[in-house]
Amino acid sequence: MKWKQIGDIIILNKNVENPEKFLKMKGIKAVIKIGRIHGRTRKPEVEILAGTETETIHKENKCLFKLDVASIMWSKGNTYERMRIPRLIEDGETIVDMFAGIGYFSIPIAVHADPKKVYAIEINPRAYHYLKENIKLNKVQDKIRPILGDSRIIAPKLSADRVLMGYVVDTHHYLDPALKCLKEGGTLHYHETAPEKIRFKRPIKRIEKAAKPRKVEILNKRIIKKYSPGVWHVVIDAKVD
Ligand SMILES: C[S@@+](CC[C@H](N)C(=O)[O-])C[C@H]1O[C@@H](n2cnc3c(N)ncnc32)[C@H](O)[C@@H]1O
Repeated sequence: MKWKQIGDIIILNKNVENPEKFLKMKGIKAVIKIGRIHGRTRKPEVEILAGTETETIHKENKCLFKLDVASIMWSKGNTYERMRIPRLIEDGETIVDMFAGIGYFSIPIAVHADPKKVYAIEINPRAYHYLKENIKLNKVQDKIRPILGDSRIIAPKLSADRVLMGYVVDTHHYLDPALKCLKEGGTLHYHETAPEKIRFKRPIKRIEKAAKPRKVEILNKRIIKKYSPGVWHVVIDAKVD
């Protein structure tokens, strides 16, 4: 059995005999089981095993993230990436976060770097609610502008030094709006889920194809985590002239 703790909630991947025993642990208020994660909004299958409340505040890298674990995903496997991005930001950058969620990247950027503005776009009203809450919780109202809507429509209307594409499965369908938004010489952080053999080759090709005739320089490529057997979640940092 695998388990993890998010805020004051224990998350299991299967049923256990006596889930109430976890409630005896200091500061634990609920135990839930999370099954598969579905669809575009990444909504998980959830069963409450003990306790009642599923809203919590999770702390990571000096940032606070309020979320309802029953309706919003929290990926521990992305922790390093959430800490890596703020270190790359230069003072005064304008950033567009095309898949902001509850602020997974936007919040650490606003807390640990000094951007001019982060436009955080989120399509799911539930996640958007927590995005706004987290902006307040972390006191970064002057740094992040939350936008409820489809980044395919909104991103091309903005202009950014850096565009974050922290989303998987069909991210390549969003490359055109991302590139319309990215200034000359700007940086793209493009996520993709790709089979082992082409795990970097395919995402790089897709960026180059979408960017043509603009010149693409690959600054970094890294594996974030295993997505499914033989498939990796990767991120490519690309400078586009
Ligand atoms: C789950 S997050 C990615 C997780 C994140 N990388 C992390 O560190 O855990 C992806 C978010 O993109 C949102 N999303 C999906 N399609 C979108 C679109 N077209 N425009 C804006 N947001 C979108 C989903 O609702 C979801 O909240």
